[in-house]
Amino acid sequence: MIKIAPSILAADFCRLGEDIASVREGDMLHFDVMDGSFVPNISFGIPVLKSVRAFTDMTLDVHLMIHDPVRYVERFAAAGADILSVHLEADTHQGTAQALDEMERCGVKRALALRPISAPEAILPYVDRLDMVLVMTVEPGFGGQTLIESQLETVRRVRALLDRYNPACDLEVDGGVTPENAGRVKAAGANVLVAGSAIFGQADRSVAIRTLREA
Ligand code: DX5
Ligand code: ZN
Repeated sequence: MIKIAPSILAADFCRLGEDIASVREGDMLHFDVMDGSFVPNISFGIPVLKSVRAFTDMTLDVHLMIHDPVRYVERFAAAGADILSVHLEADTHQGTAQALDEMERCGVKRALALRPISAPEAILPYVDRLDMVLVMTVEPGFGGQTLIESQLETVRRVRALLDRYNPACDLEVDGGVTPENAGRVKAAGANVLVAGSAIFGQADRSVAIRTLREA
């Protein structure tokens, strides 16, 4: 089943509650945390996540674009994350392994995110412990960018590895997803589609979600 994850990075933060309510037909809410160091932008963090958690029952898919994410796993879990994604490039192998241990201890789903520079095979040391792999189809940091078509090959290769080593694992694609490319993203093997601009940029979010689901 295809899952759609509206990214609130593209929401109007003065009307965040209304915007979240408008995407309730999504399967999970994507929450981008940026530290101004791992990526050249700063977004929002723990206090905002707490408020969002109190407001909605949607699954909260928290994408940590921060260095040494293990430092914050417990706090984001306590603030209400259901799924946490840490970037492979954000820490050493040991640090990433510790972050996954910490997620397990805190009872949140474990996801590993790949910047475009990372090879699909880089997931292999962790693959049997993952609930989701997130493949970035833009350089992380900003919404509204154009999907890098060559990343669809990475999606295909990650899907092949998951089919072999962990078929239950979700494969999420994040960055530049539109109704025009969503069919190709799914055909490459993704089953979770993040979309910021393609949903919040539309007046009717239900139609936007359905369009992506059925593309
Ligand atoms: C980018 C973020 C994305 C972003 C996607 O660094 O990780 O989740 O919100 O936005 P769109 O769909 O507009 O590319
Ligand atoms: Zn994201």
